[in-house]
Amino acid sequence: MTSADSRPLVVLVGPPGAGKSTVGSALAKRLAAPYQDLDEHIVAAAGSSIPQIFESHGEPHFRQLEAEALVLALTANGGVLALGGGAPIPERNRAALAEYAERGGTIVFLDLNVDVAVKRLGSSNTNRPLLAGDTRARFRALAEERRSAYESVATVTIDTSRLTPHQIAERIAQHVAARESDSRS
Ligand code: S3P
Repeated sequence: MTSADSRPLVVLVGPPGAGKSTVGSALAKRLAAPYQDLDEHIVAAAGSSIPQIFESHGEPHFRQLEAEALVLALTANGGVLALGGGAPIPERNRAALAEYAERGGTIVFLDLNVDVAVKRLGSSNTNRPLLAGDTRARFRALAEERRSAYESVATVTIDTSRLTPHQIAERIAQHVAARESDSRS
């Protein structure tokens, strides 16, 4: 395989609270593949936390780091990659994701309803500047605003509202296996 063919096995997208990190870790274990979280790459590159990046340099700077990290992460071979909720929104990132899907990659939109999201997010929003304040209202607005972008990049959508992380990982593993076997034939 040349580096031009290198790509993650699967990319997870969806709003905050969709379970991208939990499902991503479970799926990576299931596939015996490495797990990467794009936000962790951004934090490592910036040397500061996400709230600090937003606070000191603003959201546009965060989005710039995110776009750069995405291009790199889409060439890493074989793993599971979870994206932050806003990553599929800028057009250039959607173009990078479309190109990844054309190379046979799988992009899963982890969808969920607002009640489940609020329950899952709980009070753990100190690391999520965009949900600060009224989590329910902020989540609803973000999810509505972004739905068409998530749908446009996804090769498959899973409603996670009534599924455990293990069940979701299992469904994705089956989908990936089918897609990988198609892309080899
Ligand atoms: C963001 C979601 C966060 C993180 C950043 C911005 C967003 O990731 O990338 O706070 O724009 O929705 P999670 O989706 O993992 O919370």
